[in-house]
Amino acid sequence: MERVIIRGVGSCMPECILPNADLEGMVDTTSEWIVMRTGIESRRICLDTEMASDLGCEAARKALENANISTCDIDLIIVATVTPDMRFPATACIIQKKLGCVDIPCFDVNAVCSGFIYALDVARNFLLNNSKMKNILVIGTEKMSSIVNWEDRSTCVLFGDGAGAVVLSRDMEENSDAGILDVLIGADGSLGHLLHCPIYGSTGPVGVGSTEKDEYFIKMEGREVFKEAIKRMCAVAGDVLQRNGLTIDDINCVIPHQANMRITSAIADRMGIPQEKMLINLQHTGNTSAASIPIAMNEAIQNGKIQSDDLVLTVAFGAGMTWGAALIRWK
Ligand code: UT7
Repeated sequence: MERVIIRGVGSCMPECILPNADLEGMVDTTSEWIVMRTGIESRRICLDTEMASDLGCEAARKALENANISTCDIDLIIVATVTPDMRFPATACIIQKKLGCVDIPCFDVNAVCSGFIYALDVARNFLLNNSKMKNILVIGTEKMSSIVNWEDRSTCVLFGDGAGAVVLSRDMEENSDAGILDVLIGADGSLGHLLHCPIYGSTGPVGVGSTEKDEYFIKMEGREVFKEAIKRMCAVAGDVLQRNGLTIDDINCVIPHQANMRITSAIADRMGIPQEKMLINLQHTGNTSAASIPIAMNEAIQNGKIQSDDLVLTVAFGAGMTWGAALIRWK
């Protein structure tokens, strides 16, 4: 049976570190508040000249190196991002040019913080249904600092920049059960108002009408998003386990979307996941939206926290509202 495996993983973080202490000088907050309410200690921030495509391209190069394949072997590039370099062309096309993989299809996916799992599902289906494709680059890359309101203490302390990438490949090895076993995604558009960034699309062209400055930035009803995040991530993780005849005890490690330590702890408590099985790195990344899962995945591999044959559950939640979970037998 044909299966799709994660053949290589890579990530790229901007050099510049923004610790909580620096935010104390920008808005009315304290490092203690941020750590207590979110678990975040610092985040990485791009230079003005550094774009989401730069981070994504570097993460992709590392994933290709890790997979031991070249840019010529890539059949499709999918980028999950909510901070594209520009409205168009797609950031996937910009990365294609930078990588030099000519003529292959490229497109972006916008499912905000669930974007990586959405893109993983799309890529997996391409590989399973299109015999001409063998390797797909899936990249999550974000420059969240470009849409954060640095005067709004309730959101600016949460987000960070970064990118992660995976190479997905068809695997024909016999007698193997490795690969992406299942992916489940969902959305509820009626809750879109809880977390949104109004002025980007046709709703509010720049320079028209009485656009308020803060309309350009992330707006969030934090408490409501917090509750939905826990509810939806527990539900989708439970559903993907159940439909594969598994329980949480079968899982070796969980990579949740890295938004808030209180959210990941509540998920662990509700689902009966021992804390040591939760792979958390948000302390030094903040919430990097679509990039958070592949960044955490890469870090876990580097630290030996994911081993061959491990059953990995990854789960996300984001604006939309969107959610998703993937089950992966690691190879
Ligand atoms: O990627 C998925 C999308 N995002 C998320 O998952 C985020 C979900 N939400 C959250 O993580 C949390 O709701 C926050 C971290 C954003 C906020 O934590 P909270 O415990 O829900 O705090 P709160 O919004 O209920 O605010 C509590 C107090 C308020 O003051 P009053 O009204 O009690 O006097 C806020 O004004 O904390 C105040 N506050 C702050 N104080 C110091 C809000 N932000 C800050 C801040 N520093 N940065």
